[in-house]
Formats: sequence, C-alpha cells, structure tokens
Amino acid sequence: MKLAIFFILVAAVVGSTTGELSPPERVYKILMLLPASSRSHRNIFMPLAEALADRGHKIVMLTNHPKSSKHPNIREVDHDLPHFKEDHINMFDTRNGSTGLIQLFNTVLPAMARDMYKVPVVRELYDRRKEFDLIVVNHFYNELAYPFVHEIPFISLATPGMDPRQSAVLGNVLNPSYVSVMHDLPKPTNTWERLRNVVYSIGMAWLWRNWNIVPLVQREISAQFPELPPLLDLERNMSLALLNSHFSISTPLPLLPSQVEVGAMHCRPGKTLPQKLESWMTGAGSAGVIYFSLGSFTRSTSMPVQYRDLFIQAFRRLPQRVIWKYEEELEDVPDNVMISKWLPQQDILAQGNVKVFITQGGLVSLQEAIYHATPLLALPVYGDQPKNGIFIRNSGLGDFLVWEELTLDMIVDAVTKISNDPKYKENIMKMSVPLRDQLMTSTELAVFWTEYVIRHKGAPQLRSPAAQLSWVEFLMLDVIFLLHLTVFFLYFITRRILRVIYAKIFSSDIKMKKKND
Ligand SMILES: *[C@@H]1O[C@H](CO)[C@@H](O)[C@H](O)[C@H]1NC(C)=O
Ligand SMILES: *[C@@H]1O[C@H](CO)[C@@H](O)[C@H](O)[C@H]1NC(C)=O
Repeated sequence: MKLAIFFILVAAVVGSTTGELSPPERVYKILMLLPASSRSHRNIFMPLAEALADRGHKIVMLTNHPKSSKHPNIREVDHDLPHFKEDHINMFDTRNGSTGLIQLFNTVLPAMARDMYKVPVVRELYDRRKEFDLIVVNHFYNELAYPFVHEIPFISLATPGMDPRQSAVLGNVLNPSYVSVMHDLPKPTNTWERLRNVVYSIGMAWLWRNWNIVPLVQREISAQFPELPPLLDLERNMSLALLNSHFSISTPLPLLPSQVEVGAMHCRPGKTLPQKLESWMTGAGSAGVIYFSLGSFTRSTSMPVQYRDLFIQAFRRLPQRVIWKYEEELEDVPDNVMISKWLPQQDILAQGNVKVFITQGGLVSLQEAIYHATPLLALPVYGDQPKNGIFIRNSGLGDFLVWEELTLDMIVDAVTKISNDPKYKENIMKMSVPLRDQLMTSTELAVFWTEYVIRHKGAPQLRSPAAQLSWVEFLMLDVIFLLHLTVFFLYFITRRILRVIYAKIFSSDIKMKKKND
C-alpha cells in the first residue's frame, strides 16, 4: 500500500519539468552568478537554469567550473581563477585545521574579489550587466559578486538551504529558540543549547558580516569600485530568496512571501544505468548493494590511508556488493567491490537495490537519499554535515559515525544494522512521500518565482517592512523604553498622591486627637 502511494506520487511528479506553467510573455536574459561555488552548488543551479532555458530564456552562468550543460540557451563562463579549485582543496585537512572553513573562506574570497573583475570575460560580462532582466546569485559566500547587482533586480538561490542570517536581511529574524545555526545540532533542546544557539546566531553573523569575511572582500571591491554602495547594502535590495530546503525534510519555519522553499530541485527519477553497472547491481541479488561516496568536494582519495584500509577490510566482511566512488586505481580491493571515479548517483539510488548509502552527509546527497528512499550511514567531514548526521540518526533514516573513532567493527556493525532492520527503510519512505507530495515540482516553483520577479520589475510588493527597520525599532526597544518610563512615572505620581492623602489623614488624626484632649 505504502509502496503503491509512493509510485503514484513518483508518476505524478515525473511529468515535464515546467508543464503546468503558462508560456512566458517574452524571452528573458538571466545572469546566474556562482563564482565561488562547489560543484554541488552548481548542480543545484543547473535544474533551474535548464528549466528556464527550456522555456526559451537565455541564461549566462558565471562559475568556477568547466562547462557542464549542453543546452543551447545556456552559456557557462568559467573565470578559471586558481583560488577555489575543489580538486586542490583537501577537506580532510581543512576540517583538521583549528578554524577550518573560516580560514579557507577568508583567504580564498578576498583573493577572488581582487582578481575576478580583472579576468577579461568577467569584465566584459560586468560591463554588459544592464542587458540582463534578472540576476540570480548563489547565496552564501558570494558577496564578491554583488557589484553586478547594483541597480538591477536580483534574487538569490540559497544552495545550503535556510540561512537565518539571510532571512534576517529580508526582514524575517528567526527565533533561535528553535532555529539552529549550530553546525553540530539540528535543533536546541535545553537551556544550555538554546543559550549556545543564541550566542552562535549573533556571533557567527557578526563574524561573517562585520569582522572576518565581508570586510576583507569589501576592501578589495572598494579598491576597484570606489563609487559602489557597500556590499551589504546591495544585498538588502534582494527581491526574493529561493531556498534549497523543504519543511518535510527539515524544520517547518514561518517564511515571508519572498522566501520560497524549492528544496531538492536536482532530484529526479532514475534513468537507465550503464549495462555493466546494471548487471553488477542486479547480480547482487537479495543481499543488495552498498553505495559509498563522499560527494564531489570531499574526494575519497583525500581520505587518510588508515581509514581507507578500514573500509577495504570492512567491505571484505560484508555479504553485499559495494559500489565505491573512488577517484584513482586501488589495489587489493575485494571481489565484491566495484570502484569507479564517476558514478550516476541518482540512477544508482533509484535502482532500488541499494541497502545503505555511505555518505559524507552533504545536503545534496541527503536530499537525493530521501527522494529515492535509501537509508544512510553518514561520516560527516565539515560544515553542516555533522548536523545532517544527527538529523539522520534522530529521524531514524540511518546512523552516523565519527572519523576519529572509526574502527573496523563499527563500520561492519553499522552497515549490517541499517541494512537488516526494515525500520530505516520505512522511516525514510515516510519522509520521501511528503517531499514528493507538492502542488508543483520545486523546479516549476522556482521558475514561476524567477519569472514573477522579472514580470513585476523586482516585485517590490514582496518586500517586508521589517527589512527597513533598525535593530532598535525591530526589537521595539524604543517602545519598551517608553513603557518603562510610563510605568515609572505612574508609580512616581501615585506614590506622591498617596503620600499627600496619607499626610492629610494623619495630620487630621493628630488634630482630632488634640481636640479630644
Ligand atoms: C589530523 O591531524 C592529526 C595530527 O596533525 C593527524 O594525526 C590526523 O591523521 C589528521 N586527521 C585527518 C582526518 O586528517
Ligand atoms: C533595487 O532593486 C530595484 C528593483 O529590483 C532596482 O530597480 C534598483 O535599481 C535597485 N537599487 C539598487 C541601489 O541596486
């Protein structure tokens, strides 16, 4: 029964990507800016770019990656600067550093801000920017792209999902009593964690915007564009944010009309697998397949050798067949392990025979696993991955392990537990069905709102008045101050009056007494 509903929904969602929308009024020119992005961020942009391109719009994407789409209406511009080449960044080393990602960002981003506008193709694009009807910026560490958006309608696509900092910029300050910004907890549950979350919410926003990242980028940008308003002021003119999140797979939140959840746009039904892979997976029989990939950013080859050897030994002990995304040749792999440097992840997950997906727990992989209802074993490396690992455990979608504590038995036990106990599959199915149960697909929704902002020239009707308020006004500190003042004044007056009355009664008491004497 459950399975039947599942497949009906699959069929409902499959249709053409933007079939339900009315045809566009004209061809739009849209510029997408993701100059400092991982491949997975690019992969989240691509379904939107392709759906818009399918509707006849002309898309130009500024990225730090080689061309990846064959669509005739999409032109990808790779600035090709050396600062943020994923293949040269070892995430295992980065997470080991005391300040980890912040250190990566505060060296890479200012350097890119300094050099990017000197790259001829970027400069040319910048000079032509007013030809575009709309700009779509990758939210999160792409402030260096804001010179483009000056005096042009723009929206953002928040590839890492909801970011309370960005939400506050739009005028929606989310309550830290239940919206976590902690990288190791999906939500605070007691006084101590709420306190920590409040400190983090304020501290991280301040660190990013006022101290360690944006001021460094700003300095480089100001040197080249002295007339330009500050980057954070430009950011405030954002018309809309598309969020790569969905309430059915995270926390339901009170959102503004200008915050639209379009999570899992890149998720799609499986396509036919290459012959060799298909027969390998089918040949696994009822024992099934374990799929192991650390994603595109954290390459398996950067995994320290001691961990790699643990996995090889663990896989030898498993009854399943293992498909392992590993970017080089490997010696001594057991017969039940297939190694490949590139794999069609969604098609593998959709095939139905994967018992456990061993992952670094990145958002993109998590969404794909939920979409294709595949239980997970997470080995978080950096960023939001520890939080996703805890989410996986708490929601019963699988479990997570910690690299530093990893042992052979732990891997074997965790994989065995997750593949043998049907509750994990049932739980992830229960999350998968509502994720697909939507009025229109995430991509259609994103296309609708992108065109909407163009049709309505920046859609000022979406702006929340809260975005214009200062902190004092927003928190009503002025009103609270006045109320306090009034209460104090009333207290003061009342006290005065009572004193006078008391004195009168008292003195007449004395007079009475005197008379009687
Ligand atoms: C982290 O650093 C320590 C010491 O510098 C090293 O022993 C360990 O292998 C490193 N861990 C990873 C995951 O790279
Ligand atoms: C703010 O956005 C509107 C429309 O989206 C645009 O017309 C205006 O020029 C922008 N202002 C600045 C300073 O970028």
